[in-house]
Amino acid sequence: MNRISVSSPSNIALIKYWGMRDEQLTLPNNVSLSMTLSQCVSLCTMAPLHHGSNDEILWKTSEGALVPASPSMRFGIEHHLGQLRQHIDHWPPLRIATSNSFPTGAGIASSASGFSALAMAFALQCDQQCRGACISELARLSGSGSAARSAFGGFVQWPGDARQSTGPAHQFAPAHHWPLHDLIAVVDASHKKVSSRQGHRLAASSPFYPTRLELLPERLDTVRKAILNRDFDALADAVEREAVEMHMIAMTSQPPVFYWQPTTLTLLERVRQLRGEGLQVCATMDAGPNVHVLCTAQHRSRVFAALRTMPGVVRWIFDQVGDGPRQLEHHLF
Ligand code: PMV
Repeated sequence: MNRISVSSPSNIALIKYWGMRDEQLTLPNNVSLSMTLSQCVSLCTMAPLHHGSNDEILWKTSEGALVPASPSMRFGIEHHLGQLRQHIDHWPPLRIATSNSFPTGAGIASSASGFSALAMAFALQCDQQCRGACISELARLSGSGSAARSAFGGFVQWPGDARQSTGPAHQFAPAHHWPLHDLIAVVDASHKKVSSRQGHRLAASSPFYPTRLELLPERLDTVRKAILNRDFDALADAVEREAVEMHMIAMTSQPPVFYWQPTTLTLLERVRQLRGEGLQVCATMDAGPNVHVLCTAQHRSRVFAALRTMPGVVRWIFDQVGDGPRQLEHHLF
């Protein structure tokens, strides 16, 4: 076993996974669709430790220092490693270092990129044949369903077989099919107060949740077709409805969860206005206040020119659809 390094991306859900039917196995109540990103990535270096019996889990800060991972990050990684080790016997303790190119735990799916990176590094260590679907299944063992989608680039559905709630994710269109951009308005980079795991648990307590589950198959079909036909108008309408609906479920859960902040709503309104003026742009939010502004390459500059001075945005991240995880030649340690 050698030192292995990988980069794995975050993704933005176009149809959201919200609510699960089996918490132990991380099985969703509904099929979700996402666009894999290219710039928001987690890096992970993994190597066997030749001394001691505990894993060493490190975090690489933006200044380049390797420090012990925070207790919550350590807990998540240890849990995932425990699940992964059930698949392979006699694993030595590991030295693992990770870093993110974007704010962690702020609703930009750092768990998707982080756990898919961990799954891929682990897979490369123990089974060179494990790619795509196999990595997707290993990533899901982390407890983060969205991580199962980050095993692929482009446009991804999870579970890949919509008739089942188990099984890996599946790429239904590659990144080059439609080079959409994602301008991420960071409204608040701090750690979110209510985890998506907690949100999934509460989803079914919303009186509107059964209606959501009824409406989703048709919307899933609409979004899939919009992507396959590169039909931005159809995509925009369905994606914004979906984002508002997922948050409506969160806000009407018992107890309610409010991820939005005032700037989230202002941005949503402005994006709708720009679409009314003829720009190909729409917005969506995962479990946080930050707004993913999706647009075509053709309208990207005009969209950003119209939004760049919006008050309340602390930072913009420029991203676009990407090709998925890859092995790296350089290492974090
Ligand atoms: O994968 P989790 O457990 O972090 O949940 C993801 C929840 C959303 O980001 C809100 C939706 C999604 O499908 O990514």
